[in-house]
Amino acid sequence: MATKYVNAVLSEQQGDGSLPVIDGVLGPSAVDIQTLYARHSLLAFDPGFRSTAACKSAITFVDGDKGILLYRGYPIEELAEHSDFVEVAYLLMRGELPTPLQRKNFDEAVGSHNLLHEQVLSFYRGFRRDAHPMAVMVGVVGALSAFYHDVMNIRDANDRQIAATRLVAKMPMIAAASYTYSVGRPQRYPNNKLDYASNFLQMMFGTPNREYIVDPVLARALDVIFILHADHEQNASTSTVRLAASSGANPFACIAAGIASLWGPAHGGANEAVLKMLMEIGSVENIPKAIARAKDKGDAFRLMGFGHRIYKNFDPRSRVIQAQAKKVLAHLGKDDPLLEIAMHLEEIALKDEYFIERKLYPNVDFYSGILLRAMGFPMNMFTAVFAVARTAGWVSHWLELQEESHGIDRPRQIYVGKTLRHYSEKK
Ligand code: ACO
Repeated sequence: MATKYVNAVLSEQQGDGSLPVIDGVLGPSAVDIQTLYARHSLLAFDPGFRSTAACKSAITFVDGDKGILLYRGYPIEELAEHSDFVEVAYLLMRGELPTPLQRKNFDEAVGSHNLLHEQVLSFYRGFRRDAHPMAVMVGVVGALSAFYHDVMNIRDANDRQIAATRLVAKMPMIAAASYTYSVGRPQRYPNNKLDYASNFLQMMFGTPNREYIVDPVLARALDVIFILHADHEQNASTSTVRLAASSGANPFACIAAGIASLWGPAHGGANEAVLKMLMEIGSVENIPKAIARAKDKGDAFRLMGFGHRIYKNFDPRSRVIQAQAKKVLAHLGKDDPLLEIAMHLEEIALKDEYFIERKLYPNVDFYSGILLRAMGFPMNMFTAVFAVARTAGWVSHWLELQEESHGIDRPRQIYVGKTLRHYSEKK
């Protein structure tokens, strides 16, 4: 079939075939193709959504060419230095940094929703002990919809805020319990005298029979990890949440869908994959072999933690996290050989034509695994930590979508299957 082309011309005038252009406050403009099919019987084809703006959003801005990430206008570096995760969650959900009174009220709301219903804890026993924590989290968060369905009205703004706060508040215990269950330890409850990150640490690593003293350097590093991972505009998991939410589904079910999407190695699972890769490389001498494999098109091996769909310069989060990794290792007096391999790998890859040409730079996951490992997190919990943080972003997008819903999301397709045929012709 001969390829046909349509020429799009940018014009100041509205003509028969013209489509309006929508400008954002920052970033590229978009051709509004909502009437394309009705007017021209043409669909837009963009698998992978490389050129598709699926919605308008006022939450997060990413400029991948310049390496800029803003939450509600604030640069990620400033938030990582001066803010904390709960304040960032408030900012993402409500649009502004809280006043001291708003912060106090929000802390109280998080503190009053951070326990899990005791019946929810009994769900864990249904899972195999060796189940991946992300598999458990998909199940448990989805199951929460059975607890908070009839009692909430998603048309009510107040109910929506309560559901969003509940999710942010409960996620640390949900994640921690998926780990403690796997190692057969009793689960500790949240302690409202502790901040969000410290609470997560004590629920992960503490036992009921002895006092757990939180290391403030580790708590701060974890808080920074949470801030850096809190949102990243329309990534795969957030788009999944929005798509699920567009049908009016229960918010807990929508967030469970986001967790499922995050789990994959091309997305949130990359931090776990990075560490596995560094272990497989094993020593600095093996790096050239690994680089050669990553460049070989016949080999499925990729340098995990390198490349990003949006960042084609550098990922601003990777610098912050690299600094935190060095700080925590120095504080703990640990000399992780994997950090040495990672730093050499980064240095060699950044000078290599293949990576330069394709604009492949270390992303946030390249160092987050090393940092989490130094803090004592088992590898299969890395993506679960990411899920705790990203819940703030997911619920913010869920809230935004509920306010400006354009109806159910329903992409179209280009059908490439069989044309009409009849059962009577079956061979
Ligand atoms: N190692 C080697 N080559 C790579 C890598 C990599 N990590 N990433 C991309 N490439 C190559 C591709 O083979 C392709 O080469 P070609 O043009 O010769 O065919 C080119 O770079 C473009 O790659 P795409 O896959 O088209 O880039 P895309 O934007 O679709 O993918 C992604 C981005 C999925 C992140 C990819 O770079 C990757 O798989 N990286 C490793 C996994 C990873 O770290 N994921 C975490 C993402 S960050 C996050 O979720 C928080």
